Amino acid sequence: MIKTRQKLESLRKTLRQHNYRYHVLDAPIISDGEYDRLLHELKAIEAEHPEWITPDSPSQRAGAPPASKFDKVPHPAPILSLANAFGAEDTRAWFERICKMDERVNEATFTVEPKLDGLTVVLHYRDGIFVQGATRGDGMIGEDITANLKTIKAIPLRIPIEKKEERGKKGQPSLFAENRPPNTEYRIPPHLVVRGEVFITHADFSALNKRQEEAGEKTYLNPRNTAAGALRQLDSRVTATRPLTLFIYQIVYAEGGEIPNSQWERLEYLRELGFPVNADSRHFDELEETIRFVDGWEDDRLELPYEADGIVIKIDDRTLADSLGITGKDPRGSIAYKFPSLEVTTTLNDIQVEVGRTGVLTPKAMLEPVEINGVIVRNATLHNFDFIAEKDIRIGDRVLVKRAGEVIPYIIASIAETRSGQERPVRPPSNCPACAEPVEKIPDEVAYYCVNTACPAQLIRNIEHFVSRTAMDIVGMGGKIVAQLVEAGLLGDVADLYTLQKEDLLALEGFKEKKATNLLTAIEESKKQPLERLLTGLGIRGVGESVARDLTLHFADLDALRAATQLDLENIEGIGPNIATAIVDWGLVAHNQQMLGKLHDAGLNPVAIVGVQHAAPLRWEGLTFVITGTLPTMSRKEAKEYILARGGKVTGSVSKKTDYLLAGEKAGSKLAKAEALGVKVIGEEGLEELESN
Ligand code: IVH
Repeated sequence: MIKTRQKLESLRKTLRQHNYRYHVLDAPIISDGEYDRLLHELKAIEAEHPEWITPDSPSQRAGAPPASKFDKVPHPAPILSLANAFGAEDTRAWFERICKMDERVNEATFTVEPKLDGLTVVLHYRDGIFVQGATRGDGMIGEDITANLKTIKAIPLRIPIEKKEERGKKGQPSLFAENRPPNTEYRIPPHLVVRGEVFITHADFSALNKRQEEAGEKTYLNPRNTAAGALRQLDSRVTATRPLTLFIYQIVYAEGGEIPNSQWERLEYLRELGFPVNADSRHFDELEETIRFVDGWEDDRLELPYEADGIVIKIDDRTLADSLGITGKDPRGSIAYKFPSLEVTTTLNDIQVEVGRTGVLTPKAMLEPVEINGVIVRNATLHNFDFIAEKDIRIGDRVLVKRAGEVIPYIIASIAETRSGQERPVRPPSNCPACAEPVEKIPDEVAYYCVNTACPAQLIRNIEHFVSRTAMDIVGMGGKIVAQLVEAGLLGDVADLYTLQKEDLLALEGFKEKKATNLLTAIEESKKQPLERLLTGLGIRGVGESVARDLTLHFADLDALRAATQLDLENIEGIGPNIATAIVDWGLVAHNQQMLGKLHDAGLNPVAIVGVQHAAPLRWEGLTFVITGTLPTMSRKEAKEYILARGGKVTGSVSKKTDYLLAGEKAGSKLAKAEALGVKVIGEEGLEELESN
């Protein structure tokens, strides 16, 4: 019993630390599969001993049964807003105004933080335990969304985070009373209320929409609305499925303890406690320096992994800032320097229909080229045909387009007022644009499908997915090569990859000895990938990375999985009846069975090695990278994953602490900065060199 209890505590501690490394530091040291296994173990003990479950257990993040409404929560201090400044002149005017109010402001220093376009939340910690979380509401009273917030893994359920160095100490350290976060001299207030901004990163938003698209479901319109909708869910189990994260930037209330007076030190203090704090924040001694920094961000803002609509400039001395008072709801001691809008209008010249991996037909907008923040935009996302109908978007319309970070620009609305009468309504196609077979609409789904399993467009997408970095990771096999091989009749399914001959490749345009050998070696190497990657690569509807991992927790190899019944599958946590049906149905298709047979004959017999990945040395641990520009074959997201997987860290801006700037074409101010600071600049091939060193 005591042993089990100790095991429980140690699992919780380990899980908290890994959760922190993954969601706050962005530097995981174990695989997701290993994390899931530990969580599974914790849940098993808690199922045996429900009396041991505490609200801060890592198991308590999965979402609670639905509520009927949100209770009201009064805020301990008003949750204020910010006045805006549009440009340097406005900012100087703000500073002059407050200097006149109090001459000490002349000597002030500044903390600047990206202004995230998300949703404000207010989090209460009592004796270090996260006890309540609220929306902003009217600034005085918010709504209790504690259950939803608990599902956000970046929110610590208890503070301070126990640092690795403290491991090995006997027993649990007492968390409060005289306890301090490591490296600071402040006693933690028993009632601490912090404020932050909940948001969804561009990468997570794209991945979410990709999943929706593949499942034939509606795609979300933008990260902010999606985050807002998720926070307002009465069923927190739904919130748990949305990729929300947050940054904390303000201490709203601290009772019974001490906190630093400087905003810059407060950010550091919050970080020490284990909160996620934006690493792109800076401190400056004078206003002109601050303005130069902010102006520099205007070009780089789109490279931030999240949407920022400006930079917040804060007088660093909080007592001084607070003493300046407020106008309306805006504190005088801070200002939001807003970036220019990223929305423009242009003409929708045409709509092209693309065929996805599962046959989903997606409309893409062909635009009259238009510049948004230095980039010429020609195409945009139109979500689905329902969206086009709902918004009454017609070919020839003037449309409002937004460009945000790394996501593909998207159409917000059409401007009906400027119509000439020549515009044409859009109808879903009745035949697939790639294979001309009739299109089908599945009841209850928004998507239209090409159901021809031999459709070449689908085959190309399927193989692209199979070879991608999240699946079999066949290096050097980009979309162009896949299309080339399919068009040459060399690939009829993914298994044909493993019987490709060198002569076949050499007969193709652009292939020489070295390229052919490298590709074949990479294909051969991929045979060693574990089961979860093969499962991800097969492209079974609903089976992405995380479901594939759940499956490998229960089935050690393909044969075991093939023997599973619908019920066996449904009994697995994280797998519902729809996915179970999709897996069973997939296995019944004759062509899929043949393909598995071919894979087996080619020597692929992968086993689940959940969690073993972390055993590989993380060679780039301690190295910090910044990525900029367009890389020859990898997207920036892929490059980031590549670096993270090797233990490196990726940050948004170049500083003296940066080890490498990974620069592609059209690298802008970051390249200049790296050169000025003497930071090593490498290209994509430089990554591979580092890897092989
Ligand atoms: S400070 C009194 N800092 O922007 C302090 N706000 O337009 C006021 N926001 O309501 C807020 N990032 O939701 C602050 N680093 C940041 C922020 C930030 C985003 C949001 C916040 C606020 C809105 C004001």
